[in-house]
Amino acid sequence: MIKVVVCGASGRMGQTVGRMVHESSDLKIVGGVDLKGGTFFNEEQVASKDIDQLLEKKKPDILIDFTVAGAAVENVKAAARHNVALVVGTTGFTMEQRKVMADAVAGHSPAVISSNFSVGVNIFWQVLRDAAKLLKDYDIEVIEGHHRNKKDAPSGTAKTILQILDEETGTRQKMYGREGITERKNEIGVHVIRGGDIVGDHAVLFSKNFETITLSHRAYDRAVFASGALIATRWVVGKKPGIYGMNDVLNLSKK
Ligand SMILES: NC(=O)c1ccc[n+]([C@@H]2O[C@H](COP(=O)([O-])OP(=O)(O)OC[C@H]3O[C@@H](n4cnc5c(N)ncnc54)[C@H](O)[C@@H]3O)[C@@H](O)[C@H]2O)c1
Repeated sequence: MIKVVVCGASGRMGQTVGRMVHESSDLKIVGGVDLKGGTFFNEEQVASKDIDQLLEKKKPDILIDFTVAGAAVENVKAAARHNVALVVGTTGFTMEQRKVMADAVAGHSPAVISSNFSVGVNIFWQVLRDAAKLLKDYDIEVIEGHHRNKKDAPSGTAKTILQILDEETGTRQKMYGREGITERKNEIGVHVIRGGDIVGDHAVLFSKNFETITLSHRAYDRAVFASGALIATRWVVGKKPGIYGMNDVLNLSKK
């Protein structure tokens, strides 16, 4: 039985992960962490300042984090102090925060960190990489949409898309929206939609005279991210310390 603590337990993803862990036969919730204490699927939920006591007492195998970037860095450091494996789905990290997490887990904890745990999105990234190699001289636009409460923009998934495009088509300037008289140069347009309860839409357009190729992915339910996070959980427990991507979990070529 894999013992699980969820950080961001009261949030949209925390609740979805909690429900799926609760319904599985090989995983068990042993605690939750959020801004306030309480209960999480009949187990103790503590405020984030008490995370060390919870990890000491419950001795989980894995800490799953879906919070906000600043909090996630602290949670990763706490897990590393207790040699607990990690699955981190939080997005919006700076390069410095990524380095702090890598330094913290080194020698202590294996961690899967991914801006998107959907299996389909990880395959989409690989298809995008293959397509981009062939479409270097096309105009490229990236469009993403999420629910009205999403905090960071563009999404972590869109940032991964931009990183793949930079790697495969050469680094181009990013144009975040357009207004007024705008002459198109060799840029990538990035467009963000926020509204209602959109779970997660991403599209990449490759356009040239007379034609457009569109690659797109739509998530219908955040259970898709939670189920991917549980695939990563089962994979990462017992691995050597260090940072892994969902590409490692799914045996895909590159993030
Ligand atoms: N990687 C993926 O597949 C994936 C999928 C969906 C969402 N996300 C990301 O996961 C994160 C959470 O998304 P959400 O929709 O669940 O957000 P949410 O706002 O519903 O939940 C976040 C939770 O974290 C809690 N929190 C904030 N600070 C905390 C702290 N210091 N300690 C403990 N808990 C704290 C909040 O109280 C809240 O309950 C976001 O960064 C989002 O972009 C990633």
